[in-house]
Amino acid sequence: MDEILEVVVWKTTELLNAKGAIFRILNRQTEQLELYAASGLGKEYLEKGPVSSYRQMARPYRKNEVIVINDIQNDSRVQYPQEAMKEGIRMILDLPLSLLNDDMGILRLYFTKHHEILEDEKDFMIAVAQQCSCAIDKARLIETQQSRYDKLVLQTAKMSALGRMAAGIAHEINNPLAGILLYSSNMIKKVPPDGQLKDGLDIIVHETIRCRGIIQGLLDFSREREPEKTLANINDVIGKALNILENEFRLNRITVETDLSEEMASSFLDENQMEQVFVNLLINSVEAMDEGGRIDIKTRTDAKGKCMEIEFEDTGSGLPEETLNRIFEPFFSTKSKGTGLGLAVSYGIVQNHMGDIQAYSEPDKGARFMIRIPLLQQPPSMKTEGSKNGTP
Ligand SMILES: Nc1ncnc2c1ncn2[C@@H]1O[C@H](COP(=O)(O)OP(=O)(O)OP(=O)(O)O)[C@@H](O)[C@H]1O
Ligand SMILES: [Mg+2]
Repeated sequence: MDEILEVVVWKTTELLNAKGAIFRILNRQTEQLELYAASGLGKEYLEKGPVSSYRQMARPYRKNEVIVINDIQNDSRVQYPQEAMKEGIRMILDLPLSLLNDDMGILRLYFTKHHEILEDEKDFMIAVAQQCSCAIDKARLIETQQSRYDKLVLQTAKMSALGRMAAGIAHEINNPLAGILLYSSNMIKKVPPDGQLKDGLDIIVHETIRCRGIIQGLLDFSREREPEKTLANINDVIGKALNILENEFRLNRITVETDLSEEMASSFLDENQMEQVFVNLLINSVEAMDEGGRIDIKTRTDAKGKCMEIEFEDTGSGLPEETLNRIFEPFFSTKSKGTGLGLAVSYGIVQNHMGDIQAYSEPDKGARFMIRIPLLQQPPSMKTEGSKNGTP
């Protein structure tokens, strides 16, 4: 885009016999016009302060209208009249650019003398401006898509590196942990039933079991544990998860609304693992709603009938973008007692089902989790070999 705009300012300057031209594009966040290309103007003039879009693009102007500014000193569109006079500028042609009523920027031509602008010259400028608006629009679209893609690639690479690390750690810790559990459980049988020794050993066993749970979670996340898939209906699995947490909802004054599609076909799933995903999401929602609230759960089949879509939405605290970018990382938690494994494990499980999970949220606006899983009507083993670890 920069190259095109450079050519535009240079060519229009030459063809319209101007002193110079500049191209500014509107920054929608700051509402200021930013310099993208310039020709024929002094460095000092170009480096003057920020340029407000309110002045230069002030309406009313007709769409694709060339505005002629003859009175440099007093026209409100000229933000730095002294500097312009010093630069030898006596007349300006403005062409605000817009596409479908959306302001995009401005092409401005500078002249050292007043003179009549022919209709042909205006038509030429308008044609150039229309082409530029389309080019800017396309360039913006490509930039947004590129940044989304970069983010996705980064996230995937980060998660797979973390997954490998987690699997390594889990393997290393699993064996000594099994030893501790075995010996402490055996010792419990040999010590007096009441006494400090028994109490101490009970704590060791209890804490070791807790560690084993965490390790299991890590293995789930890193896809080391193969899911045991059977034909099941996702609506039933959601029902089971809701049953488990019924008491939690009541105690925390949370209402749950479900809109589960009756046409949802059964699919090959690991029911226990999927239940764990839903329980993790629900517990997070409960924990994000200190003063009660509402959870909405929806299931549906996508338009092509190939995928099930499961949506969990709450009216809780929500989260800022920096947090949202990290919630699927193992051990990332904002809670004093959280292990930060709930969503990491859920991510691994959904991946094991060849699906994907995405989170959407803003602070104070609740959180929404969207899970998409392909509908499999035959056992996964009958599918092609490569699909086991394939991406959706
Ligand atoms: N529904 C939600 N609303 C607001 N924040 C959420 C929600 N779900 C997750 N989070 C944020 O994501 C973080 C990670 O969640 P995750 O379930 O992985 O770990 P945790 O809940 O902190 O700990 P654990 O689940 O292991 O007990 C949470 O600490 C919280 O900051
Ligand atoms: Mg959690």
